[in-house]
Amino acid sequence: MIPQNRSSEKKVNQDELKKQVAEAALEYVESGSIIGVGTGSTANHFIDSLAKIKGRIDGTVASSVVSAERLKSHGIPVMDLNQAGQLSLYVDGADETNEFLQLIKGGGGALTREKIVAAASDTFVCICDESKLVKVLGTFPLPVEVVPMAQSYVARELVRIGGRPELRQGFTTDNGNIILDVKGLEIMQARQLESQLNDIAGVVTVGIFANRPADVLLLGTAAGVDTRKVA
Ligand code: 5RP
Repeated sequence: MIPQNRSSEKKVNQDELKKQVAEAALEYVESGSIIGVGTGSTANHFIDSLAKIKGRIDGTVASSVVSAERLKSHGIPVMDLNQAGQLSLYVDGADETNEFLQLIKGGGGALTREKIVAAASDTFVCICDESKLVKVLGTFPLPVEVVPMAQSYVARELVRIGGRPELRQGFTTDNGNIILDVKGLEIMQARQLESQLNDIAGVVTVGIFANRPADVLLLGTAAGVDTRKVA
């Protein structure tokens, strides 16, 4: 007989933590509202959970084509942001978060639409497993969406500020652009760096979400959901 490893029995895997926070985010959904929905594996769990209460909402605005397709596959209406107007709630994951709920996003390449939908929402609830919480943003390579003709120029500017940009191979965003993933940045002044990088000609969006951080962080831990807000 193979001996059981008791400690691994207790381990909660990362995907279960993502499911846990996705389920917890349903508490923020108001009846009769239109919900902004993010992109990624954690957001996918949220979409699957939202399907159970789809009769209570008026619709959704998706931050990517892939999320829109998943929402539609559940029979959840997807609307254009221009029709929906200001949203009460946006739910999305992140690649990194610090204690101020400033984020790095864009691992799935949907950062521009994510930033737009977050900006147009009263409350941004970020759902993450505990591995995403960091002291300083920047270990995860920072995604930057760039207009293709500006690739070399923007890459040189990113090197000038100490980054090591790499083209995300074989990837085109929903907006027809490329992504540069920037390694080697230790992001101490997140708001300042977000604005500085956004000012480079040819940059569409930088994956730092600090000027509009999350309002609520639901962090999945082995001990349950840890809810955090910035005072
Ligand atoms: C997509 C994102 C995602 O929120 C981020 O990559 C986290 O993904 P996951 O939930 O799969 O860990 O920003 O552009």
